[in-house]
Amino acid sequence: MWTWTESRLRSRLFKRSLPERNFNPDMIIAIDGPSGAGKSTLGKRLAKELGLLYLDTGAMYRAVALYAVRQGTDTANKDEMTRAADEVEISLKGDPENLAVLLNGEDVSEAIRTPEVGQTASVISTHTGVRRALVERQRQLGDNAEDGAVLDGRDIGTVVFPNADHKFFLTAKPEARAKRRFEEDAAKGRAVSLERTIDEIAKRDQRDATREDSPLTIAEDAVVIDTSEMGIEEVFERMIAIVRSER
Ligand code: DC
Repeated sequence: MWTWTESRLRSRLFKRSLPERNFNPDMIIAIDGPSGAGKSTLGKRLAKELGLLYLDTGAMYRAVALYAVRQGTDTANKDEMTRAADEVEISLKGDPENLAVLLNGEDVSEAIRTPEVGQTASVISTHTGVRRALVERQRQLGDNAEDGAVLDGRDIGTVVFPNADHKFFLTAKPEARAKRRFEEDAAKGRAVSLERTIDEIAKRDQRDATREDSPLTIAEDAVVIDTSEMGIEEVFERMIAIVRSER
């Protein structure tokens, strides 16, 4: 059986013979970074601009978290959580701007966005069995995407696609990230205080960066962008210029 790298290499060699396009065929773009750094907004923009599949890997961890809570699974129990991640059916449907997350066929796009599900996702993502199941699925989805994919998460450039064509690590000061997350939540009518958002971001940062399996780290070859003082447009222009210049 081919490994994912071999199958990707073969598909690349085949696609290399296709007519020249303005970017690499089957391109993989990895965007990693902490919560609230702008990964999903920029991932969607890049995917749309380049006609690539967009994969929000955090949404997959959130969907497993929601499933576990609904099933009454003990989220601290690694065996029970591994079983839950293995049995659950998660799919991502639609274009980058309107990505729907389906959990066993049910649209949970809204339900997975609560701060509680975010915290639970951060807890269950520490289990190696859960990560293994989701990483495998992410590789399949990325490899099978027709022209390539933009994936955003915490371990894309380090673990999921270490050979990604482009790796970005987006970061921002904790206060800037908390403020953005708070404004997003407020716009959606979720009543949370800025203090609580700051506290939640700090807890998640700590857990995501210190877990044993695939902690949030910067890949050696990633382009690091601090978005604290930058507008989305500015960050986008910088990223797209890099992708287009390094064909
Ligand atoms: O990006 P997000 O806030 O939706 O992610 C929710 C949690 O999922 C995050 O706290 C850590 C985990 N996660 C992960 O461990 N690896 C990824 N590739 C994506 C998310």
